[in-house]
Amino acid sequence: MRFSASLPLAVLTLASATTLIPRSAASQSAPKAQLAPPQVAATPPMGWNSWNYFAGKVTDKDIRDSADQIVASGMKDAGYIYVNIDDTWEGERDASGVLHTNSKFPDMKALADYVHSKGLKLGIYSGPGPKTCAGYAGSLGHEEQDAKMYADWGIDYLKYDLCSFIPEVMQKQAPNDKAAQMRLMVAAYDKMGKALKATGRPIVYSLCQYGWDSVWEWAPGIGGNLWRTTGDIEARWQSIYDILNQQKGLASYAGPGHWNDPDMLEVGNGKLSLAENRTHFSMWAMLAAPLLAGNDLPNMKPEIKEILTNRDVIALDQDPLGHEAQHIYSKGEVEVWARDLQGGAKAIAIVNVGSDVYSTHPFHLDLAQLGLHGPQHAKDLWTGKEMELTNNMPLELPSHDILLLRIAEPK
Ligand code: GLA
Repeated sequence: MRFSASLPLAVLTLASATTLIPRSAASQSAPKAQLAPPQVAATPPMGWNSWNYFAGKVTDKDIRDSADQIVASGMKDAGYIYVNIDDTWEGERDASGVLHTNSKFPDMKALADYVHSKGLKLGIYSGPGPKTCAGYAGSLGHEEQDAKMYADWGIDYLKYDLCSFIPEVMQKQAPNDKAAQMRLMVAAYDKMGKALKATGRPIVYSLCQYGWDSVWEWAPGIGGNLWRTTGDIEARWQSIYDILNQQKGLASYAGPGHWNDPDMLEVGNGKLSLAENRTHFSMWAMLAAPLLAGNDLPNMKPEIKEILTNRDVIALDQDPLGHEAQHIYSKGEVEVWARDLQGGAKAIAIVNVGSDVYSTHPFHLDLAQLGLHGPQHAKDLWTGKEMELTNNMPLELPSHDILLLRIAEPK
């Protein structure tokens, strides 16, 4: 697809903001986003989450070991702060409704103290339904009680996952009425948002409902700091590429305090090649996505650590302007994305999304489509080399690889 050739980025931003996303029924009744400076998540949250590697096996020890590794590997210094326990920590509720941990997590307060003692923050997981996605106890009917307990433990981040709320509440209470189902969903997220706020503790609120009902339109208004825009990521190229495609048109919804979440990182997981790991990490940084690593930290390979701790790439993600990248144009199998950075700088990502490993061929960069005129001085953020970008210059990229550039001050 080609956008009109000479439009500068700023105009493209406005155009996509106003045209691409229809307003949902539910969002029209949702409160407007607050303009006050964000208390949390002024830049996209960075950290690690247990699900993508440990899934249901995660234990207290895994969390402690991961926290230790975040410090020892230099990830903490690079900005990774949240250590997030995903599903399967939950036990049973007692007669007074208090939810206890299961035997894998003997003492959550002690775990929080341990994580905090490392200068890190602790995240936890629940959902608005009676059960979580893995079938453990959810927060339905106990929202205030659970939020207060999280605050008492010293929790800093909550991922709230829709799952059983769909069949158990939405479909049961409003069969055959999608609009009413969506209102129930928004109300459930609003309820937990209010409960978290009432604790007085700054807690990052992460909505996980897979992008339903244009969540990006209403989540900021109910206190959401990030919201999943898609179904679950998997550690394979097709999943990463599909998710990348689904981010097109969402850029205008991200900003300080409220971010689109294309799901947690799979860098270092599965059979992703080095190029695919690099592209995945680069594009999540371009998207101003939360950077939540999901790999086995104690056994991380050096080349994976190098990717996750590339300061230049992290700086794109954490740029204080918070302007998420937009897809500018594609030619054949090559996609060009760009984002504006603080101080008039710009980042450009050129990705070969083609899967034929034998056919790398030169791609000719069209600077005008990026709103750039004349040669540009750029830094290649993966090699660290400076280069001169000229119009129509031939660029050759292996399959699934990326050229990630920062232009200090576009001329
Ligand atoms: C859902 C979420 C995942 C993970 C699991 C846990 O599938 O999308 O990210 O939290 O539930 O059960």
